[in-house]
Amino acid sequence: MAILKIAKMGHPVLRYSAEAVEDPTAPEIRGLVGDMMETLVDADGAGLAAPQVHVPLRVVIFQVPKGRETDNDDEIPLTVLVNPIITPTSDEQDEDWEACLSVPGLTGLVPRWTSIQYSGVTLDGEKIEQAAEGFHARVVQHECDHLDGILYPARMSDLSTLMFREELRHYVGSADDEDRERDTA
Ligand code: NI
Repeated sequence: MAILKIAKMGHPVLRYSAEAVEDPTAPEIRGLVGDMMETLVDADGAGLAAPQVHVPLRVVIFQVPKGRETDNDDEIPLTVLVNPIITPTSDEQDEDWEACLSVPGLTGLVPRWTSIQYSGVTLDGEKIEQAAEGFHARVVQHECDHLDGILYPARMSDLSTLMFREELRHYVGSADDEDRERDTA
């Protein structure tokens, strides 16, 4: 296993759609995911997509850390999703702070579907079907956007909330905004 270099905003690998994985059970995909896990732990992130480590394939990993679960959503251990598909299951969107390992130092308020269904395949070739809400739904949407060449600033409705993380304390929003901005994906 190895800690991989993370591509930063502006690198072409982050701007294009990634290719579907033909064989999710292939040893090289398992190797890639092992390296992505090590890279995510090293970077202390909540999620990572293969294009962020310069591999243009439809593979994401993510977790819902303790403290980010909601009433309807448990803590989610590190999950691997190959060739994921997302379907919103309500019309409702919610804004919350996001940060990205490929956009270091910055944070912004990003609208996301509050409730989704996602599917994909595991490294054993088994199909996953899962409903998600809250932060779980948000991190999956953030990671899957990377597979389509979309970084979170492109999803923002108000770019005046795009700011350096250390300046977030100046943002006049709800009292818990600063507490909530602590996951990078
Ligand atoms: Ni990201």
